[in-house]
Amino acid sequence: TITGLKAGEILDSRGWPTVKVTVRLEGGTVASASVPSGASTGQFEAHELRDGDSARYAGRGVLKAVENIEREIAPALIGIDAVRQPEIDRLMCELDGTENKARLGANAILGVSLAVARASAQSMEMPLYQYLGGSTARRLPVPMMNIINGGKHAANGLQMQEFMIVPHGAPTYSEALRFGSETYHALKGLLEQDGFATGVGDEGGFAPRLKNEREALELIVRAIEKAGYEPGRQIAIALDPAATSFFGDDGYALPGLGPSSISSDDLLAVYADWITAFPIVSIEDGFAESDWSAFAKQTAAVGDRIQIVGDDLYVTNPRFIRRGIDEKATNAVLIKPNQIGTVTETVAAIELCRRAGLRYKFSHRSGETEDDFVADFAVAMTGGQFKGGAPCRGERLAKYNRLLEIERELGAEALFSSPFVA
Ligand code: PGA
Ligand code: ZN
Repeated sequence: TITGLKAGEILDSRGWPTVKVTVRLEGGTVASASVPSGASTGQFEAHELRDGDSARYAGRGVLKAVENIEREIAPALIGIDAVRQPEIDRLMCELDGTENKARLGANAILGVSLAVARASAQSMEMPLYQYLGGSTARRLPVPMMNIINGGKHAANGLQMQEFMIVPHGAPTYSEALRFGSETYHALKGLLEQDGFATGVGDEGGFAPRLKNEREALELIVRAIEKAGYEPGRQIAIALDPAATSFFGDDGYALPGLGPSSISSDDLLAVYADWITAFPIVSIEDGFAESDWSAFAKQTAAVGDRIQIVGDDLYVTNPRFIRRGIDEKATNAVLIKPNQIGTVTETVAAIELCRRAGLRYKFSHRSGETEDDFVADFAVAMTGGQFKGGAPCRGERLAKYNRLLEIERELGAEALFSSPFVA
């Protein structure tokens, strides 16, 4: 039974305020959770409540969300058994009363939802992944590690946001993490050798000032080889262009690839060329969130060979995922709990994906905290893939290291089977 609910403002990995919630249960269990925050957010994400008080943190304070937790959510939840997650999440949605959690704030609601789940697991002395996923939750995900950052995550002139490596040929999660980390260090060496800066972006990937996106792909292939791995067979590449961020009235603006903006069809051809030239296994948000037909065209053209993922397109919301199913827009869905705002609704989005035969890929946000909830959640939901940034910066390692712990805890029971063809 929930006996207390406290909240406070903390700072995320970009140094902006976010919400941390602490739940107390009868019997003495105390558990906390904190909420991440995106930079390249989808238009239809659940509402992240910010104070708008320009005298504090440029208006980005979250004291209103904190107050909403303590003054409104706490009195409504105290006395309820923490194991009743669906009811608790539904109560918070009803209390909020809006379509997109705009009144209380999705950051307030998610913080409570996560902390309640963690407290409940703790009180039952169960690991969180098992509490959320049951005893069949034994599959460790392939880490998709973002080793070159661009777009809204780095001011280096690259328009596309994420260049990830996927060590899908590794035999275990820990080996995959090692393959990825070694490649990350090999890339650092190449950048130093070629005279590029080795500072990192928001997700811990390097943020060199390259000529264009193609150069990033070439560097990654060289890094995989330099680390001693076979590109494609052992380590593949995944992209998240986050294309909404370079889409305008004239089309897609990619100055590194040509002076004028290009159409959806032209961009589709660019990707087709890259898929042939590089071992790419997954493209997320290759087109703007409003450009549904371009997604469908790409899925029809290459969806049998590679994974096409919708992130901003779906914002983890069953309403948009259903449209994606109807229009065959993609063959996979990105899952970010804070886009929808509760544990229960995140699980519902995944169940919809499962029923429709869509893959799903768990994800952190670019603004993160040291909270590792999403690592357990990814194992619980057994989707087999997780993107958590580069193997660099504490908030990214918190997740990757938690997955190592889960793997050790499961021991011989741990499963690792890549959703990608090796
Ligand atoms: P965000 O980026 O957290 O800044 O939205 C991650 C992504 O686009 O997948
Ligand atoms: Zn994305």
